[in-house]
Amino acid sequence: MCGIVGITGNENAVDILLNGLQRLEYRGYDSAGIYVNSQDGKEYLVKEKGRIDDLRKEIGEDVHGSSGIGHTRWATHGVPSKENAHPHVSADGRFFLVHNGVIGNFAELKATYLQDVKFASDTDTEVIVQLIAKFAKEENLATKEAFKKVISLIDESSSYSFLLMDNREPETLYVAKNKSPLLIGVGKGFNVVCSDAIAMLDQTHDFIELVDGEIVIVKPQSVTIEDAQGNIINRKPFHVDTDASEAEKGAYPYYMLKEIDEQPTVMRSLIKHYTTDDGSVIIDDALLDSMKKADRLYIVAAGTSYHAGLVGKEIFEGLAKVPTEVHVASEFGYNPPILSEKPFFIFLTQSGETADSRQVLAQVNKWGYESLTITNVENSTLSREATFTLLLYAGPEIAVASTKAYTGQIALEAILAKRLGEEKDVSAATSFNVARELTTVANGMQELVDEKGQYEQIAANALATTRNAFYIGRAIDYDVAQEAALKLKEVSYVQTEGFASGELKHGTIALIEEGTPVIAIITCAKTAKHTRSNTQEVLARGANVINIVSRNLAEDGDQIILPDVHSLLTPLLAIVPCQLLAYYTSLQRGYDVDKPRNLAKSVTVE
Ligand code: F6R
Repeated sequence: MCGIVGITGNENAVDILLNGLQRLEYRGYDSAGIYVNSQDGKEYLVKEKGRIDDLRKEIGEDVHGSSGIGHTRWATHGVPSKENAHPHVSADGRFFLVHNGVIGNFAELKATYLQDVKFASDTDTEVIVQLIAKFAKEENLATKEAFKKVISLIDESSSYSFLLMDNREPETLYVAKNKSPLLIGVGKGFNVVCSDAIAMLDQTHDFIELVDGEIVIVKPQSVTIEDAQGNIINRKPFHVDTDASEAEKGAYPYYMLKEIDEQPTVMRSLIKHYTTDDGSVIIDDALLDSMKKADRLYIVAAGTSYHAGLVGKEIFEGLAKVPTEVHVASEFGYNPPILSEKPFFIFLTQSGETADSRQVLAQVNKWGYESLTITNVENSTLSREATFTLLLYAGPEIAVASTKAYTGQIALEAILAKRLGEEKDVSAATSFNVARELTTVANGMQELVDEKGQYEQIAANALATTRNAFYIGRAIDYDVAQEAALKLKEVSYVQTEGFASGELKHGTIALIEEGTPVIAIITCAKTAKHTRSNTQEVLARGANVINIVSRNLAEDGDQIILPDVHSLLTPLLAIVPCQLLAYYTSLQRGYDVDKPRNLAKSVTVE
């Protein structure tokens, strides 16, 4: 959410900043801007409402420099506009700041210190840069001291990553973070800063992680990290193996389609990373010991990852026989359940940066309980702060709507549950050959993604012009219905509900009209007959029913048939047609499917 980049010591600063921002555009695309300094007295501040391409057009031939900062915005305070775009500049024209996060007490700071300052924007960020300028001038503080003083005034509820430049020291970047992600990239003769390594993989693969509360001074030849007490910290860079090309679309028109198509590969990659040739599962002993002791698992997540958690509950209870609760992170934080005696926490998060999940993890750490983060991003905040991490190895997920991370998370939950159940001698787990079952899933997914034409057709007939839609199912199919509905609504703006099919008749059936699309997911043998009765009820009221059914349960007239897989893994197949229906509906309605309105990838504000 919001993307930040910075560079010092490279003559191509403008191109590097713009390319970095383009890579981070999925984190926010309301407006964007850069500030660059040429070191010979010339400086440029260019901002534009809209996308990075709009900013590129605004940047003329003359704009050049060897240091600078850039930002792509997802609006929190202040509407998307050129004025509210970052970087923000102090009234004296000396300091330039980009910010990702939210300053909780910005209004109080403004009222206390800045009543006589004329503001150019409605943002919380401008308050910070104006304050830095005020303290630098009135108290004659060096930039670092003014920066530190302002940071000390920001309240605990706030989140930020800041990149500050002072045009009197044009080679220096001042950096600080709290709760929001930020990395320093180490180059040869230059250094970069970014909120996600993907932004700068063209420049370096070596990154230094930052800890909340540190102040970092970045120059072309040096990176100096100070902790909150002013002690110098030596921290070695870590290496990011991801190839820059993995974050490219290649021949695909959109990332979402590429990522849907990659799902069979994600399954195979998980098998490769977590199982041996003889089918045994490789999971760290310390993690297993910790999970074995637990009397209850608590899965905490947001959005699509939460939906992967719903399926995870079925899997952990089915294979490891351990009671499992699933919680929406933003609710858990303020309304925690009564915990069992020996809880174990699992955080599901594609990005590893979701603020809602992170604040629960911080609480869990305070309580002193152990935790596991399942994430796609190595070294991400939730990965660093949990006791254990398991990676998805799914490759970068760029489309805002999550697809391959959802199926990756479910598959990894199955791998972990199998090993945990085996350890506890649960027969459902010992007889479950996870590598074989996931191979069957990968083949089934391939069959589905190879037949895209039919989904395009169904989307055109049933969804392209509808006002609303329903996904329904029971048991594990209800879990998938919720994710399928989220996928359709977020990229196509069709108001869609994922509903327990038996619950429809208790009120919501009132919304069914002539032609309302009702898509039923039927993969669960126990409930198939009942869901079919519910489809009859809506058919009788004029609904346009589309069935997505496992081959072994299929009947004449069912529109989408899924290859058969293990009963706990059917969500991995059932979701694929739903992802494709969402994708085609969005395109048919003329939207940018990779960057739906109002959204951003990686939600780093609470
Ligand atoms: C929807 C989507 C979001 C994320 C949610 C959590 O397609 O992507 O609902 O799932 O914001 O993000 P992570 O998994 O990064 O914690």
